[in-house]
Amino acid sequence: MTGENHASARAKARRIFDRDAGTIEASAYVDPEIYQLELDSVFKRCWLFLAHETQIPKAGDFLSTYMGEDPVVVVRQKDGGVKAFLNQCRHRGMRLCRSDAGQARNFSCIYHGWVYDLGGELINVPLEEHAYGKVDHKAWSARAVPRIARYKGLIFGCWDENAPEFTDYLGDAAFYLDILLDRSPAGTEAIGGIHKWVIPCNWKFAAEQFASDSYHAMFAHLSAVAVTIPGGSYAGSDGGDGRQYSSDRGHGTGFMLDAGRRELLSAFVGPEVGRYAMEEGMASAVDRLGHVRGQRMHAQHMTVFPNFSFLPSVNTVRVWHPKGPNEIEVWAWSLVEADASDEVKEAYRVGGLRSFSASGIFEQEDGENWVEIQRVLQSPTARDTLFHVGMGMGKSRKDDPDFPGEVGWIFSEHAARGFYAQWQRLLTEPEAPVIPAAADKEAGHDA
Ligand code: FES
Ligand SMILES: [Fe+2]
Repeated sequence: MTGENHASARAKARRIFDRDAGTIEASAYVDPEIYQLELDSVFKRCWLFLAHETQIPKAGDFLSTYMGEDPVVVVRQKDGGVKAFLNQCRHRGMRLCRSDAGQARNFSCIYHGWVYDLGGELINVPLEEHAYGKVDHKAWSARAVPRIARYKGLIFGCWDENAPEFTDYLGDAAFYLDILLDRSPAGTEAIGGIHKWVIPCNWKFAAEQFASDSYHAMFAHLSAVAVTIPGGSYAGSDGGDGRQYSSDRGHGTGFMLDAGRRELLSAFVGPEVGRYAMEEGMASAVDRLGHVRGQRMHAQHMTVFPNFSFLPSVNTVRVWHPKGPNEIEVWAWSLVEADASDEVKEAYRVGGLRSFSASGIFEQEDGENWVEIQRVLQSPTARDTLFHVGMGMGKSRKDDPDFPGEVGWIFSEHAARGFYAQWQRLLTEPEAPVIPAAADKEAGHDA
């Protein structure tokens, strides 16, 4: 991708999204130039999820994953640290590690046998002396991911050496992320394998929905609700009480308050999970997170910008790996409190499979919409259409007594606008810091 192409993509990105009008042009989800610019300007500059600590517990444990489209290997070091490096041999470019996960003493390239240690450093070159004389091992090591952050069981990586500290990157989104991670003093644990499946849709449909869209649940999930709650329906509802939070860094979340917490959890994930969350798992959650986060919030969905999403009550965690403008690979797994009983852990695993997974009923309803949108977008006229992203304009505020950051009613798109505002800023201002200046906030500006 040349700079010239990026210049053309930047010009498009400038006009594609209009925050004040609450509109986004459909080409955002299908234009190949925009996509290439996203890989360079978003995925090379933001903190990206790599793994949960318990997925690589012992020295030599590794996981192959992606940062945007860059293949990387994440490895537990002998000293307990974590390193990650590009999954590419420096000799002729072969994929260095071809396993999804496992235990290694080192990584040998299968093409000509160059060997790299657990940190990605080149340690052996076959016939080095006779064939080369000398190879500078340090200079020809695998490309290291320069920044690694570990936050309450999660491991993130960033290609940008000058990126802000991860906790600054989160900002007040940490308040909402901690609901997933900090309910118990024992911390959390990843259970089961990573489920991987392909959805032919743009990555932003999934990431934006998890940041900002409770609205679709009333309609898209009508079938799942009807099946899981006998006689249950959202029809005729006034929407109920809940909030949506938007971050100037692109993160977003929405959640309900109080009503039906146990019933929804029991119906959607399973009665054992409903009981655990409201009984033995409750006291420490309230103790650590307070009454509002420990007890009142539920049905939460969240995205940490750009593509790390989760649902704290179902405890499904996922990355939307972009694979071109028209496709994602979803990598999803279940997370539980480490001190929950085996029965509760199994209930979360099975409940997650039933609701949000490749075989989950809610997941099918979400994916069906994203796939069909993407199919329509293959039409040139459809690509050239404006979409409405204007719900709740001017109705968010920054002085909610219970919730930090910019907060409004759950049925809003201010978190979607926050997501796209950050996306647009990173695409159009390659030199600007990833954390925007304070003035860039929506609250009040269109009131
Ligand atoms: S490509 Fe890896 S050793 Fe040649
Ligand atoms: Fe959904």
